[in-house]
Amino acid sequence: MAFLSDTLARVKPSPTIAVTNKARELKEAGRDVIGLGAGEPDFDTPDNIKQAAIAAIEAGKTKYTAVDGIPELKKAICAKFARENGLSYTPAQITVASGGKQVLYNALVATLNPGDEVIIPAPYWVSYPDMVLLAGGTPVFVTGEMEAGYKISPEALEAAITPKTKWFIFNSPSNPSGAAYSREELKALTDVLMRHPQVWVMSDDMYEHLVFGGFEFTTPAQVEPGLYDRTLTCNGVSKAYAMTGWRIGYAGGPEALIKAIGKVQSQSTSNPCSISQYAAVEALNGPQDYIAESRVAFERRRDLVVAALNTCPGISCPTPEGAFYVYPSIAGCLGKTSAGGAQITDDESFATALLEETGVAVVFGAAFGLSPNFRISYATSDAALTEACARIKAFCEGLK
Ligand SMILES: Cc1ncc(COP(=O)(O)O)c(C=O)c1O
Repeated sequence: MAFLSDTLARVKPSPTIAVTNKARELKEAGRDVIGLGAGEPDFDTPDNIKQAAIAAIEAGKTKYTAVDGIPELKKAICAKFARENGLSYTPAQITVASGGKQVLYNALVATLNPGDEVIIPAPYWVSYPDMVLLAGGTPVFVTGEMEAGYKISPEALEAAITPKTKWFIFNSPSNPSGAAYSREELKALTDVLMRHPQVWVMSDDMYEHLVFGGFEFTTPAQVEPGLYDRTLTCNGVSKAYAMTGWRIGYAGGPEALIKAIGKVQSQSTSNPCSISQYAAVEALNGPQDYIAESRVAFERRRDLVVAALNTCPGISCPTPEGAFYVYPSIAGCLGKTSAGGAQITDDESFATALLEETGVAVVFGAAFGLSPNFRISYATSDAALTEACARIKAFCEGLK
């Protein structure tokens, strides 16, 4: 009898965490490493949020809470959805978990049966396919090519839908491409979904606030109210308020689904950290200045990185609408040999040689389901980004 489960054998560890660990190891060994792998803002959590957490500790808010969130936070989330997304949810339609990741995972566990298909646009956030597999479902990929701005077409979505399709996972702005769908582009997708009533929509709006150049963020249930009854609108405070370590994510959706998600949580982790929940109340209800400030910094960094990468021979980098990632193609580098003697046969060998020869850590595109590319997280200082891009340029110039 095998000790490890068959389910576990179907999933792989997160490649982004693997790159971050490898970069850390090299750093500890004394190498000069610039890590562009981790997807988290380099800014500190705003002070008003930290103070709310300290106040919660001092007030003794350190006990178990309701499994799927304290009433104050659910109320703040309802107000956020109404204010920012034009979506009306009652507290009974809200669930809170230990990070956006847990909301998505619990929702899949609560709903997938063997054979159920989940449509995932590629390039995708690394966790979607493995979470679907862990929950017993089957991922079905639809590719958004670079030439299409890494966005999928309504025709491709239509073609991927079968009677077994249970969910369509939608992520805009996207990790890893930064692509964000305009209202019109999203409406074209929701029109397709309206023709297939068995398909539910899991909208992962984690990067909602990181859109640039006046881009208008929209979410499926807002663009197509006809989908409201079969949409789970997922979000969290991790990226919007530089709170990745606090572990608070949330979702709004139909009450029966929200109850089912809470049932999974009640038999696994119980409530998310009580102190983090009070901090999240302040994040959502307090001053929102941080959001605009971070958006300005990220837009500047995006422009810096895109311009620098497009001067590297063999690399082509489109300008994404949002998030804090770029997803350049290395098609022009394939078949070459690096100055250090590495054969560049695919994006993984590119990323490995880049890390070993220049100390710049990026994540190779195969991890996200679209090659030959790599992902840069530009959520780091302008100085580190400038230096990293200079090293990438020298590496590309050294390819023969
Ligand atoms: C697209 C996307 N969704 C969800 C998450 C998870 O966020 P959290 O840290 O709140 O679990 C991430 C984090 O990297 C992400 O990139």
